[in-house]
Amino acid sequence: MKTQVAIIGGGPAGLLLSHLLHQAGVDSVVLEHRSRAQVQSRIRAGVLEQGTVDLLRSCGLGDRMDREGHPHDGMQVAWAGQESFFIDVRKHLGKRFMAYGQTQIQEDLHAACDARSARVIHEALDVTLHGVESANPHVTFVHAGQEQRLDCQFIAGCDGFHGVSRKAIPANVLREFEKVYPFGWLGILSETPPLPDIVYANHPRGFALASMRSPTLSRYYLQVPLDTRIEDWPDERFWQELKARYPREIADRIVTGPSIEKSIAPLRSYVAEPMRHGQLFLAGDAAHIVPPTGAKGLNLAVSDVFYLSRALADFYGTGSPFLLDGYSDMALRRVWASVRTSWYLTNLLHRFPDSTAFDQRAQEHELEYLRSSPSAQLALAEQYAGLPFEAPGGA
Ligand code: APR
Ligand code: PHB
Repeated sequence: MKTQVAIIGGGPAGLLLSHLLHQAGVDSVVLEHRSRAQVQSRIRAGVLEQGTVDLLRSCGLGDRMDREGHPHDGMQVAWAGQESFFIDVRKHLGKRFMAYGQTQIQEDLHAACDARSARVIHEALDVTLHGVESANPHVTFVHAGQEQRLDCQFIAGCDGFHGVSRKAIPANVLREFEKVYPFGWLGILSETPPLPDIVYANHPRGFALASMRSPTLSRYYLQVPLDTRIEDWPDERFWQELKARYPREIADRIVTGPSIEKSIAPLRSYVAEPMRHGQLFLAGDAAHIVPPTGAKGLNLAVSDVFYLSRALADFYGTGSPFLLDGYSDMALRRVWASVRTSWYLTNLLHRFPDSTAFDQRAQEHELEYLRSSPSAQLALAEQYAGLPFEAPGGA
């Protein structure tokens, strides 16, 4: 097989890249090691920044999102014993957010692939990258028991944190930055109407988050110790603990019901630099992980893919490698902005098991400052909204 761009991974990053490349007249093949049903069954993020919403609309993937998604304007913060406050991103910046699940985006991407008969190979096993430093790399894999070879000009590593692409960057080139947090999030989905806004809670019992996927689907999270077992958290215990972490007037408005999904995720920040080596370009979780606080992961995958598709389209359109050469630096500017914001929000809103009385006071002071200072609210609004995508020549 032959293509211009071999895309490793058929998650949101890989499929969106193949969609945008197709619209720019660039050919690609996607190699995904799971089945389509397995990819489709993952429940993950669900808050889209305005930039992500605009991009999905402009490339023809916005119809269902506009019908079923839930627009909202900012984030509410509740903290123990104090009046809650709202960071109004719409008021400060004129930008909104859309609650729309990654699960739905993945469905929309699969439907778009079907509509254009895209070459997406599921259950591609043993995917191996060859010659990424040469002008003619290739990828080998096993499909339906047969060894296959895909020749290409570029490889896009969109295979998530545990994928193989990043490992093709030599150890003496790759720089890794990592922070692992001493707790996880226990999350549930329930077919109940959500609160109208996303509400974060900082409470002595730990962090809590009330979020949404649609007007009839809610997503809630609790900070839990890393050794937590799901079996120990029947729905009733979850709801009781959730309500205990919110002020009374908010807790009373939470509508409870049976959960339809329950899972635990650890929290970690990770960035790999550079995001390009030879003909290999990393995008999305293959290059970076953010803790879920702030819901930046999917939005970063979308901005990486936007920059990469623009650079590849420009290369094939004009022959100029200029944008490809700038890809890593440009993508990393936005990545670090969101990595920093999610790290800040994680520190602001969680109770750390090893925190001292000093740390606690400093955190309370920071919350009080945010509550009372319009300038601090504007600064957080700007970061929470996500930076705008850069023009081809830079900011
Ligand atoms: N070969 C082929 N495919 C692979 C391999 C491999 N060796 N390893 C992983 N994959 C596939 C996974 O099965 C998955 O479908 O790559 C895909 C990566 O998808 P995601 O992990 O979803 O990563 P990405 O597409 O970058 O999406 C961005 O945003 O909300 C966040 O973390 C969340 O997944 C989300 C991410
Ligand atoms: C979510 O809905 O999954 C979500 C919302 C906001 C966050 C993190 C996750 O900060």
